[in-house]
Amino acid sequence: METAIFGNTGEKLSRIGLGCFSMSGAYGSADDTESIATIHRAIDLGVTLLDTSASYGQGHNHRLIGQALKGGKRDKVFIHSKTGTIRTNDGSSVAQGSGTPDRLRQICETSLKNLGIETLDAFCLSRVDPTVPIEESVGAMVRLVEDGKTRFIGLSEAAPGTLRRAMKIHALVSLQYEYSLWTRDVEGGHLDACDELGLGLMAYAPLGYGFLAGTVGGRDALEQGDTRHKFPRFSDDNAAANRERVAAIRKVADTHDATPAQICIAWVLAQGGNVFPIPGCKRRTHLEENLKALEIALTAEDLTALDAAFPPGAAAGDRYPPDGMVRVNL
Ligand SMILES: NC(=O)c1ccc[n+]([C@@H]2O[C@H](COP(=O)([O-])OP(=O)(O)OC[C@H]3O[C@@H](n4cnc5c(N)ncnc54)[C@H](OP(=O)(O)O)[C@@H]3O)[C@@H](O)[C@H]2O)c1
Repeated sequence: METAIFGNTGEKLSRIGLGCFSMSGAYGSADDTESIATIHRAIDLGVTLLDTSASYGQGHNHRLIGQALKGGKRDKVFIHSKTGTIRTNDGSSVAQGSGTPDRLRQICETSLKNLGIETLDAFCLSRVDPTVPIEESVGAMVRLVEDGKTRFIGLSEAAPGTLRRAMKIHALVSLQYEYSLWTRDVEGGHLDACDELGLGLMAYAPLGYGFLAGTVGGRDALEQGDTRHKFPRFSDDNAAANRERVAAIRKVADTHDATPAQICIAWVLAQGGNVFPIPGCKRRTHLEENLKALEIALTAEDLTALDAAFPPGAAAGDRYPPDGMVRVNL
């Protein structure tokens, strides 16, 4: 497994991490036995970075990971765990209160309890709370470091200016941000800020929530309760337009005897040595396929072709519904 220093940790982690969101029903039903087998297979294949959140399955994801890591596996992985967002009954994301010191402590402690561990490797604020100065949220996270509840801290979907303000309070380890062929927002300053501040960029949803892998049909094919029903890019019209672009990924894949998912991940890997894609999956077949992306060396010609098919901003539809869009890049 290829490794690289992960942001300001000074520690080498696998270049590809495992995103555990879908193991708790984000994109249709999941089978715990296969999910645990997927985590075990990932560890066997050298994956040392796991991404999770207190909100995934309302604690289910943490309990599942805790179960998977029993019996001596805890020390084999770096657990990057997020706070999650506060949601209303209809699932809308609520800004106010999500970054208060009391909530951050309570979530960190609940996360540790559900995972069955003493200390997180990284505790990450899922979304900046516009009603709480970042200095206050980060200050609260620093107290969790001092109390031994997490080794490192990070932010997700934060703007470059916020990263710089936060770094004046305490060293962040990484920025987690959506980054894929159809979501290239981080090229507008976040990647530069990560380079400048020594942060790792955890590229989440590198497969465009599965859409860029070319295996997701329209909304009709999604199970009830699948989060992607809410995503504008999966609406019938937008999906049809976006699917045309996915054909370009398949074309590059064919020249490498690879799959579109592997090309998507190889493209993210090619964006910088401090960029760590964390493709999500809940089955071993996908995991094994995705890790083979490390064997693909995209040529200058491939990169040009992918760039032409996916110039920044080209995707049809926003990445989140309106209540989600106001929570990003703060
Ligand atoms: N910070 C944030 O706000 C945020 C938001 C979303 C996600 N994340 C994190 O980032 C991770 C990755 O993002 P994501 O899981 O949302 O999206 P993703 O990685 O872009 O896509 C995941 C979807 O792609 C499917 N898939 C995986 N490998 C595949 C392959 N080789 N061929 C075809 N389909 C494949 C998965 O199916 P199966 O699950 O059925 O295997 C799943 O439905 C998450 O797991 C989570 O840890 C963070």
